[in-house]
Amino acid sequence: MLQRILFGLIVFIFFYKLNAQRATPTIIDEADVPPYELPQLLITLSGEKTNTPSDWERLRRPEIHSYFANQVYGVVPGTIELFGVEVLDYEPSALSGQAIRKQVNLYFKKGNKSLTMPLLIYLPAGNKKSPVFLAYNFKGNHSINPDSAILINGKKEIELSPEEHKKFNKSGRGGRTSRWALERIIHAGYGLVTIDYNNVDPDKNDFSDGVHKLFYKDGQNAPGKNEWGSLSAWAWGLSRIMDFLETEVLVDHKKVILFGHSRLGKTALWAGANDHRFGIVISNNSGCGGAAISRRRFGEKVSDINTNYPHWFAKNFHKFNENETELAIDQHMLIALIAPRPVYVASASQDSWADPRGEFLAAKEASPVYELYGEKGIKMKKMPPVNTPFHGTIGYHLREGKHDVTDYDWEQYIKFADQHFKSN
Ligand code: GCU
Repeated sequence: MLQRILFGLIVFIFFYKLNAQRATPTIIDEADVPPYELPQLLITLSGEKTNTPSDWERLRRPEIHSYFANQVYGVVPGTIELFGVEVLDYEPSALSGQAIRKQVNLYFKKGNKSLTMPLLIYLPAGNKKSPVFLAYNFKGNHSINPDSAILINGKKEIELSPEEHKKFNKSGRGGRTSRWALERIIHAGYGLVTIDYNNVDPDKNDFSDGVHKLFYKDGQNAPGKNEWGSLSAWAWGLSRIMDFLETEVLVDHKKVILFGHSRLGKTALWAGANDHRFGIVISNNSGCGGAAISRRRFGEKVSDINTNYPHWFAKNFHKFNENETELAIDQHMLIALIAPRPVYVASASQDSWADPRGEFLAAKEASPVYELYGEKGIKMKKMPPVNTPFHGTIGYHLREGKHDVTDYDWEQYIKFADQHFKSN
């Protein structure tokens, strides 16, 4: 018996060491960043120079977009229209009379499969159209504010099953209030539209649930190599919410600001690149596969993200594990796909896993495309100090502190939105 245990232990140590040798260590020191060259933003695959917005839109943008779609996030394999909307709650005098609260279910159907998306909407009280922030939440709509009327997964508390109750207790009503400056947002004249991202595709390595299954052909149980992972599915969901917002009379749908934190920041950038209807896009601490330059390999690397979250990207992206230099794109190009619409990249000083400098550099390196349109990119050579925001058409700040969303971040996003939406 003892011999067997010892043998098992030796085998375990052998493989553990072998694996540890293979995985390259995490870079946490700027001096260890490998030398790299970014792929050319303005030169097409056939070597033509992009000199005008029209060259960009006709020639270069489509090839970059197609590369991201097929090799990185994955292509959406079809279309599906909104099947129905059910209003679950309407309160014209929520948040002590400051806001309208509306909760709706969006229904999607294909064959015998369906998907329900429960949305929570707050708008400034009154009957004026408002610009809105649109953002996924991580822990359920009820986590964003203590308002006891917020439904849990579209249901009242008494309607929850014991399993749902357990899940609800874990996440907690109002448990994430600090990340959602709701009163500040409403006070500034903006609405907030939010939904739990798990409602579109549960965040686990399992393609049998969420929206993917609605598109499967008979016998299929996972997306193809160039087809959508979860990030792309979440981006799809944002566009479907946009379809609905276009029909909402009190929403100024020309002024929808997409916001996302971390994995949802990656999602916001990809959704903004796909869908021109989003007026402003904000990436908060999005890091690897979001705003950070992959070739720097600082903090989280492509191989880390594909190993720890194998379902986020298209299978094709896994070819680039420990092989970033083979990518024909880097993440500055993702930001450039959003041009000329305002885009904001925010980092946090203690968030080395997300590579703040890499996020800044990507925002800066996207600037030549904004400048083609006569818009203000980032010119400064050095990264700005903490808490010194820059608000051009590309915005950037490095907030002091950890990976999070804080009041400071919201203060900047509101100022940025005011600058772009209120001045015209
Ligand atoms: C992990 C992951 C990141 C991601 C983050 C999040 O840290 O490695 O890529 O951004 O989770 O979404 O919270």
